[in-house]
Amino acid sequence: MTVPDITGRETARLRFASLTLAHARDLWAMDNDPEVMRFIDGGRGAPWEGYEQRTREWLDRIARNYPPHLSFWALHRRADDAFLGWFHLRPSLRDLWRNQIELGYRLRRECWGQGIATEASRALLAYAFTEHRVPEVMALTLARNAPSRRVMEKAGLAWTHDFTFPAEFVPWWNEEERLSVRYAVTAEDWRRGEGRSRK
Ligand SMILES: CC(C)(COP(=O)(O)OP(=O)(O)OC[C@H]1O[C@@H](n2cnc3c(N)ncnc32)[C@H](O)[C@@H]1OP(=O)(O)O)[C@@H](O)C(=O)NCCC(=O)NCCS
Repeated sequence: MTVPDITGRETARLRFASLTLAHARDLWAMDNDPEVMRFIDGGRGAPWEGYEQRTREWLDRIARNYPPHLSFWALHRRADDAFLGWFHLRPSLRDLWRNQIELGYRLRRECWGQGIATEASRALLAYAFTEHRVPEVMALTLARNAPSRRVMEKAGLAWTHDFTFPAEFVPWWNEEERLSVRYAVTAEDWRRGEGRSRK
Protein backbone atom coordinates (compact mmCIF):
# COMPACT_ATOMS: atom_id res chain seq x y z
CA MET A 1 0.00 0.00 0.00
CA THR A 2 1.38 3.46 -0.88
CA VAL A 3 1.61 5.92 1.99
CA PRO A 4 0.08 9.30 1.07
CA ASP A 5 2.73 12.03 0.67
CA ILE A 6 2.08 15.75 0.20
CA THR A 7 5.26 16.23 -1.91
CA GLY A 8 4.27 17.70 -5.27
CA ARG A 9 0.76 18.66 -4.12
CA GLU A 10 -0.60 22.14 -4.76
CA THR A 11 -2.88 24.63 -3.05
CA ALA A 12 -4.35 27.72 -4.77
CA ARG A 13 -0.94 29.50 -4.84
CA LEU A 14 1.60 27.03 -3.48
CA ARG A 15 3.36 23.74 -4.11
CA PHE A 16 5.01 21.43 -1.56
CA ALA A 17 8.34 20.06 -2.83
CA SER A 18 11.15 17.88 -1.49
CA LEU A 19 13.66 19.88 0.51
CA THR A 20 17.09 19.15 -1.03
CA LEU A 21 20.66 20.42 -1.11
CA ALA A 22 19.70 22.40 -4.23
CA HIS A 23 17.86 24.73 -1.79
CA ALA A 24 21.05 25.49 0.19
CA ARG A 25 21.63 29.01 -1.25
CA ASP A 26 17.98 29.98 -0.76
CA LEU A 27 17.97 28.57 2.77
CA TRP A 28 21.15 30.46 3.58
CA ALA A 29 19.69 33.75 2.28
CA MET A 30 16.55 33.19 4.37
CA ASP A 31 18.51 32.23 7.50
CA ASN A 32 20.67 35.34 7.14
CA ASP A 33 17.76 37.72 7.32
CA PRO A 34 17.76 39.02 10.93
CA GLU A 35 13.98 39.61 10.76
CA VAL A 36 13.34 35.97 9.79
CA MET A 37 15.57 34.75 12.62
CA ARG A 38 14.38 37.28 15.20
CA PHE A 39 12.47 34.69 17.25
CA ILE A 40 14.74 31.75 16.35
CA ASP A 41 18.34 32.70 17.05
CA GLY A 42 17.94 36.43 17.61
CA GLY A 43 19.11 37.19 14.04
CA ARG A 44 22.74 36.20 14.47
CA GLY A 45 23.32 35.02 10.87
CA ALA A 46 25.60 32.28 9.55
CA PRO A 47 28.54 32.47 7.10
CA TRP A 48 28.14 30.74 3.70
CA GLU A 49 31.36 28.88 4.44
CA GLY A 50 30.37 25.48 5.80
CA TYR A 51 26.65 26.20 5.33
CA GLU A 52 26.23 23.69 2.50
CA GLN A 53 27.85 20.95 4.60
CA ARG A 54 25.66 21.84 7.60
CA THR A 55 22.60 21.76 5.34
CA ARG A 56 23.65 18.32 4.08
CA GLU A 57 23.93 17.10 7.69
CA TRP A 58 20.56 18.66 8.57
CA LEU A 59 18.87 16.97 5.59
CA ASP A 60 20.50 13.65 6.56
CA ARG A 61 19.16 14.04 10.12
CA ILE A 62 15.69 14.77 8.73
CA ALA A 63 15.85 11.65 6.53
CA ARG A 64 17.05 9.54 9.47
CA ASN A 65 14.54 10.83 12.01
CA TYR A 66 11.31 11.20 10.06
CA PRO A 67 9.38 9.18 7.48
CA PRO A 68 9.09 11.09 4.16
CA HIS A 69 5.33 11.65 4.63
CA LEU A 70 5.68 13.30 8.08
CA SER A 71 8.73 15.47 7.64
CA PHE A 72 9.96 18.79 6.19
CA TRP A 73 9.04 20.24 2.76
CA ALA A 74 10.15 23.18 0.67
CA LEU A 75 7.33 25.54 -0.26
CA HIS A 76 7.31 27.00 -3.80
CA ARG A 77 5.02 29.57 -5.40
CA ARG A 78 3.13 27.99 -8.29
CA ALA A 79 3.16 31.15 -10.42
CA ASP A 80 6.96 31.35 -10.83
CA ASP A 81 8.33 28.37 -8.89
CA ALA A 82 10.06 30.74 -6.43
CA PHE A 83 11.26 29.15 -3.17
CA LEU A 84 9.25 30.69 -0.33
CA GLY A 85 10.51 28.74 2.69
CA TRP A 86 9.94 25.43 4.48
CA PHE A 87 7.24 23.73 6.48
CA HIS A 88 7.34 20.72 8.74
CA LEU A 89 4.73 18.31 10.00
CA ARG A 90 6.72 15.79 11.99
CA PRO A 91 6.74 13.76 15.18
CA SER A 92 8.41 16.03 17.73
CA LEU A 93 11.75 14.82 19.09
CA ARG A 94 11.70 17.12 22.11
CA ASP A 95 11.35 15.14 25.35
CA LEU A 96 8.30 16.96 26.59
CA TRP A 97 6.39 16.57 23.32
CA ARG A 98 7.93 13.36 21.99
CA ASN A 99 6.02 11.83 19.06
CA GLN A 100 3.32 14.52 19.09
CA ILE A 101 2.80 15.74 15.52
CA GLU A 102 4.26 19.23 15.29
CA LEU A 103 3.58 21.86 12.64
CA GLY A 104 6.32 24.43 11.97
CA TYR A 105 7.33 27.00 9.33
CA ARG A 106 9.88 29.53 8.17
CA LEU A 107 9.28 31.84 5.20
CA ARG A 108 11.34 34.41 3.28
CA ARG A 109 10.43 37.92 4.40
CA GLU A 110 9.44 39.00 0.86
CA CYS A 111 6.35 36.81 1.03
CA TRP A 112 5.09 37.62 4.52
CA GLY A 113 1.65 39.12 5.08
CA GLN A 114 -0.08 37.45 2.11
CA GLY A 115 -1.65 34.57 4.00
CA ILE A 116 0.92 32.09 2.65
CA ALA A 117 1.76 30.46 6.00
CA THR A 118 -1.95 30.10 6.75
CA GLU A 119 -2.69 28.57 3.32
CA ALA A 120 0.11 26.00 3.65
CA SER A 121 -0.72 25.23 7.31
CA ARG A 122 -4.36 24.55 6.44
CA ALA A 123 -3.27 22.18 3.65
CA LEU A 124 -0.94 20.34 6.05
CA LEU A 125 -3.68 20.01 8.68
CA ALA A 126 -6.10 18.57 6.11
CA TYR A 127 -3.38 16.15 5.01
CA ALA A 128 -2.61 15.13 8.62
CA PHE A 129 -6.21 14.57 9.64
CA THR A 130 -7.75 13.10 6.50
CA GLU A 131 -4.87 11.07 5.06
CA HIS A 132 -2.85 10.12 8.13
CA ARG A 133 -5.62 10.12 10.71
CA VAL A 134 -3.36 11.69 13.35
CA PRO A 135 -5.25 12.39 16.62
CA GLU A 136 -3.85 15.91 17.14
CA VAL A 137 -1.49 18.48 15.57
CA MET A 138 0.37 20.90 17.81
CA ALA A 139 2.71 23.86 17.29
CA LEU A 140 5.16 25.66 19.56
CA THR A 141 6.45 29.22 19.45
CA LEU A 142 7.86 31.96 21.64
CA ALA A 143 5.03 33.85 23.35
CA ARG A 144 6.22 37.11 21.75
CA ASN A 145 6.16 35.71 18.18
CA ALA A 146 2.79 37.33 17.37
CA PRO A 147 2.75 36.51 13.62
CA SER A 148 3.40 32.82 14.29
CA ARG A 149 0.66 32.70 16.94
CA ARG A 150 -1.73 34.38 14.52
CA VAL A 151 -0.98 31.79 11.83
CA MET A 152 -1.75 29.02 14.34
CA GLU A 153 -5.07 30.65 15.22
CA LYS A 154 -6.05 31.26 11.60
CA ALA A 155 -5.21 27.65 10.73
CA GLY A 156 -7.56 26.46 13.48
CA LEU A 157 -5.22 25.67 16.38
CA ALA A 158 -5.97 27.01 19.86
CA TRP A 159 -3.70 27.88 22.78
CA THR A 160 -3.31 24.98 25.22
CA HIS A 161 -0.66 26.25 27.65
CA ASP A 162 2.44 28.33 28.37
CA PHE A 163 5.88 26.89 29.03
CA THR A 164 9.47 28.11 29.16
CA PHE A 165 11.73 27.01 26.34
CA PRO A 166 14.79 25.20 27.82
CA ALA A 167 17.87 27.44 28.07
CA GLU A 168 20.15 24.84 26.45
CA PHE A 169 18.41 25.33 23.08
CA VAL A 170 18.45 29.14 23.16
CA PRO A 171 21.18 30.22 25.60
CA TRP A 172 21.20 33.75 24.12
CA TRP A 173 17.77 34.53 25.69
CA ASN A 174 16.84 35.12 29.33
CA GLU A 175 13.97 33.33 31.04
CA GLU A 176 11.38 35.96 30.15
CA GLU A 177 12.44 35.94 26.50
CA ARG A 178 12.12 32.14 26.48
CA LEU A 179 8.44 32.20 27.51
CA SER A 180 6.66 30.03 24.96
CA VAL A 181 3.23 28.77 24.03
CA ARG A 182 1.78 25.52 22.78
CA TYR A 183 -1.19 25.52 20.40
CA ALA A 184 -3.05 22.43 19.18
CA VAL A 185 -6.11 21.10 17.40
CA THR A 186 -7.57 17.61 17.73
CA ALA A 187 -8.94 15.70 14.74
CA GLU A 188 -12.43 16.08 16.18
CA ASP A 189 -12.18 19.85 16.64
CA TRP A 190 -10.59 20.25 13.20
CA ARG A 191 -13.50 18.36 11.58
CA ARG A 192 -15.98 20.56 13.43
CA GLY A 193 -14.14 23.69 12.20
CA GLU A 194 -14.03 22.37 8.64
CA GLY A 195 -17.77 21.74 8.77
CA ARG A 196 -18.35 25.34 9.85
CA SER A 197 -16.09 26.79 7.12
CA ARG A 198 -17.97 24.79 4.43
CA LYS A 199 -21.34 26.32 5.43
C1 LIG B 1 5.46 33.36 11.03
C2 LIG B 1 5.44 33.43 9.50
C3 LIG B 1 5.65 32.02 8.93
C4 LIG B 1 4.08 33.99 9.04
O1 LIG B 1 4.03 33.92 7.62
P1 LIG B 1 2.95 34.77 6.77
O2 LIG B 1 2.82 34.08 5.44
O3 LIG B 1 3.28 36.19 6.79
O4 LIG B 1 1.63 34.52 7.64
P2 LIG B 1 0.13 34.89 7.22
O5 LIG B 1 0.15 36.00 6.22
O6 LIG B 1 -0.59 33.65 6.87
O7 LIG B 1 -0.47 35.42 8.61
C5 LIG B 1 0.26 36.32 9.42
C6 LIG B 1 -0.67 36.99 10.42
O8 LIG B 1 0.11 37.59 11.46
C7 LIG B 1 -0.28 38.95 11.57
N1 LIG B 1 0.87 39.71 12.06
C8 LIG B 1 2.00 40.04 11.41
N2 LIG B 1 2.81 40.76 12.22
C9 LIG B 1 2.16 40.87 13.41
C10 LIG B 1 2.47 41.50 14.65
N3 LIG B 1 3.63 42.13 14.84
N4 LIG B 1 1.56 41.42 15.65
C11 LIG B 1 0.39 40.77 15.49
N5 LIG B 1 0.05 40.15 14.33
C12 LIG B 1 0.92 40.21 13.31
C13 LIG B 1 -0.70 39.33 10.17
O9 LIG B 1 -1.44 40.52 10.18
C14 LIG B 1 -1.51 38.09 9.80
O10 LIG B 1 -2.76 38.06 10.45
P3 LIG B 1 -4.14 38.60 9.73
O11 LIG B 1 -4.31 37.80 8.48
O12 LIG B 1 -5.18 38.38 10.75
O13 LIG B 1 -3.91 40.05 9.41
C15 LIG B 1 6.57 34.38 8.97
O14 LIG B 1 6.41 35.62 9.59
C16 LIG B 1 7.97 33.85 9.25
O15 LIG B 1 8.51 33.05 8.49
N6 LIG B 1 8.59 34.34 10.34
C17 LIG B 1 9.98 34.01 10.66
C18 LIG B 1 10.16 32.57 11.09
C19 LIG B 1 9.33 32.24 12.32
O16 LIG B 1 9.25 33.03 13.27
N7 LIG B 1 8.75 31.04 12.28
C20 LIG B 1 7.93 30.54 13.37
C21 LIG B 1 8.78 30.00 14.42
S1 LIG B 1 7.75 29.21 15.65
